[in-house]
Amino acid sequence: MSKNVRLGIVGIGNMGSSHLGQITAGKIARLEIGAICDEDPAKLAKYPNIKGFADYKEMFKSGLIDAVLVATPHYGHTSIGIDAINAGLHTLIEKPLSVHKADCQKLIAAYEQRSRKDLVFAEMFNQRTDLRYRKLRELLKSGELGEIHRVNWIITDWYRTEQYYASGGWRATWAGEGGGVLMNQCPHQLDLMQWLFGLPKKVRASCGFGKFHDIEVEDACTAYLEYANGATGVFITTTGEAPGTNRLEVATDRGRIVIEGDDLQWIRTTMPVRQHLRECPGGFSQPDRWEVRIPVNGRGGQHNEVLGNFVDAILDGKELIGPAPEGINGVELGNAMLMSALWDRTVELPLDSAAVAAEYQKLIAKSRHKTKVVKGGGDDFGNSFKGIAK
Ligand SMILES: NC(=O)c1ccc[n+]([C@@H]2O[C@H](COP(=O)([O-])OP(=O)(O)OC[C@H]3O[C@@H](n4cnc5c(N)ncnc54)[C@H](O)[C@@H]3O)[C@@H](O)[C@H]2O)c1
Repeated sequence: MSKNVRLGIVGIGNMGSSHLGQITAGKIARLEIGAICDEDPAKLAKYPNIKGFADYKEMFKSGLIDAVLVATPHYGHTSIGIDAINAGLHTLIEKPLSVHKADCQKLIAAYEQRSRKDLVFAEMFNQRTDLRYRKLRELLKSGELGEIHRVNWIITDWYRTEQYYASGGWRATWAGEGGGVLMNQCPHQLDLMQWLFGLPKKVRASCGFGKFHDIEVEDACTAYLEYANGATGVFITTTGEAPGTNRLEVATDRGRIVIEGDDLQWIRTTMPVRQHLRECPGGFSQPDRWEVRIPVNGRGGQHNEVLGNFVDAILDGKELIGPAPEGINGVELGNAMLMSALWDRTVELPLDSAAVAAEYQKLIAKSRHKTKVVKGGGDDFGNSFKGIAK
């Protein structure tokens, strides 16, 4: 391999072209573009100086690239990802890893059976670089917070308009996108939920299907979670609320952590809450507490940090921020929410991946919705990253 990693991007849409722009601007050390691929010739025509392919398999065989970034609609993550791994190319998949658990299992199996053992296989978990979540994870792992009692995440600031859904025929359909807010916007938070707190044992959810938009998939979800230690969780999301909220609240045995806006605030009890409630002689007094403001300097390097880390993993063997096999967990959590709503019952994890895949087949077979594609809209894709550093 040359001293730089030569990347081939599959899918030069919103996200693929954003990555392409950062890389060609030299923002990621030791990463260069070897080639690009899109089945839409108009996307390739915008980059006459970069070798373009209509068929990703041709790009994989070209000898022009060492690594692949898959930034296509979601079902392609599995099929293109498997082909990239089998072609012996380092592979970075955009979120979500796949639409459902069985597809994640197929993709991970391809990686586990790969012929080249040094292949780097990563997922674009850019929100894992956010220093607020990193700090919380550090605190959780250190044991300083004690046992978790309750987790609440209200993540309703994923507002999207009807025009957004009309910007691509694959969007907001069971066959094209595989879901709505749980599949496109929330994979970040679903991954962070499992990264921070592990997976729950039980999930009960209610979804609104086309509640706010003219779409067939879910654009709202409220889920109740139960963890093995008895902790509970509530996860609320939608693309139909403005102004939205992004508030993560964690009640622990050593007080309460809140991440909202730029702040990570910890109201720390001076003794464990369970000990206080057992031993306090008074009936109404509360444990003493300190207000701890934890300095957090920004939201991390986001997408570019993950790209840089992918390069460092390939060239220097550095540990990955987002190993792709971990992506199955957030997908399973989102699948559990969706299945619970569709089946109208509590579902237990681990999920039966074949049952989820069969439900997807039914949804796709019954699907009547065709997203009406309307070009334009005059909005900037960059607006979707408002509030997080690029
Ligand atoms: N990490 C993030 O913050 C973030 C943000 C937005 C989107 N995404 C993810 O990026 C991916 C793409 O989303 P988008 O908004 O850019 O979609 P998009 O519709 O704008 O772009 C997808 C592109 O893929 C091309 N394509 C589809 N199938 C192909 C194939 N088989 N071979 C070659 N090209 C193909 C399409 O022609 C299109 O240009 C999705 O997985 C999405 O979830 C991630």
